[in-house]
Amino acid sequence: MYLTKEEEQILNGEVGETLKQAIEILVALGDIYGADRLIPIKSAQIAGVSYKTIGDAGLEWISDLQGRVKVPAILNPAGMDLEDWERLGISPDFAEKQKLIIQAYEKLGIRCECTCTPYTLEGFNVSYGDHLAWSESSAVSYANSVLGARTNREGGPSALSAALLGKTANYGFHLDENRFPELSIDVEYPLKGSDYGALGYVAGKLAGSRVPVFHLRTTPDADELKALGAAMAASGAVALYHVEGTTPEICRLDFEEPAERITIERKQLDEVYESLRKACKEPELITVGCPHCSASELEKAAGLLKGKTVSKEFWVFTSRELAKRYPEYIRTIEKSGAKVVCDTCMVVSPATNSYSCVMVNSGKALAYVPGMCGAEAVYGSMEACVEEAVGGTLKKAGGSH
Ligand code: F3S
Repeated sequence: MYLTKEEEQILNGEVGETLKQAIEILVALGDIYGADRLIPIKSAQIAGVSYKTIGDAGLEWISDLQGRVKVPAILNPAGMDLEDWERLGISPDFAEKQKLIIQAYEKLGIRCECTCTPYTLEGFNVSYGDHLAWSESSAVSYANSVLGARTNREGGPSALSAALLGKTANYGFHLDENRFPELSIDVEYPLKGSDYGALGYVAGKLAGSRVPVFHLRTTPDADELKALGAAMAASGAVALYHVEGTTPEICRLDFEEPAERITIERKQLDEVYESLRKACKEPELITVGCPHCSASELEKAAGLLKGKTVSKEFWVFTSRELAKRYPEYIRTIEKSGAKVVCDTCMVVSPATNSYSCVMVNSGKALAYVPGMCGAEAVYGSMEACVEEAVGGTLKKAGGSH
């Protein structure tokens, strides 16, 4: 891999130990994946923030780093609401370690808002064709597929290294040749709302790490694309997908239809709603906001909860910036007894671990909650989640309403 004179000096340790470690990580990845050089990035999004996932070893590693990031960098969700951690029953010991992790990142100049939807925040703009080093898989999918930017699915350490250097290794999804569709997926019936998360859950298992192109009968909006990509990144390892006539890059690509073409039937989506319902019949906890709720999802949750009272724990996850920007939605949601929780999520917070059956409206949460929280998960639309929270009995978990 070609390195400039300045990069060679960094690699030789002439600019300090932290940057030496950072460039070693990027060069090692570049060598493995055949990168020709390092390229500048516009921003970094760094996973590996929750004390639940990185533990003491991660805290120690981050605390030892010196210097400042060279590009705008932001954090993935932490293990708790940083301003109101007691609300979900987080222990003081956990909170103390979590705060130390945040302080260590802050010292490096990282913007300590913790969200998997950084593209909704002021001053964190992403344009078509931008090179990024992002690590949370739904954010990676959204950046690549919906915004037409270019990022590999970075690990926490490589995204942090890229932020410190302002560069990443030029391989994978940074290159034109790896962005063409490899698998065609036909869906020959209309989809709405949580159907996209169910479709992603099914499609991700079939696509693995390949790049699918969808031929759909309906045009998904931004929230539906977010849900589709998040689910595919979790049930499979899809980091880039296209939707014919909708996502930006496929409209500009001169591509041939992939040789492999599959159809996903309506009954396969119905099975996501139905079969998982059998896992547990009585959710004790209902959560929405994986990925973090957008403004329109907060508006929808507020509209559905207005004038109602929840009889079960109902957590709505979003970024702190959006919660501050839309106080009227937050007030309406919380008046029902539901909790709006920032900086964290149902998967990376230890709070979910004390429940045995959790209802979600996210294909990604459906894929991760059992393994990461030790709870069964049930899938339904946002409407079905609200219905369950205000006293429903899971009779209407379906999504197309
Ligand atoms: Fe975001 Fe947590 Fe889901 S990081 S995508 S809300 S698992």
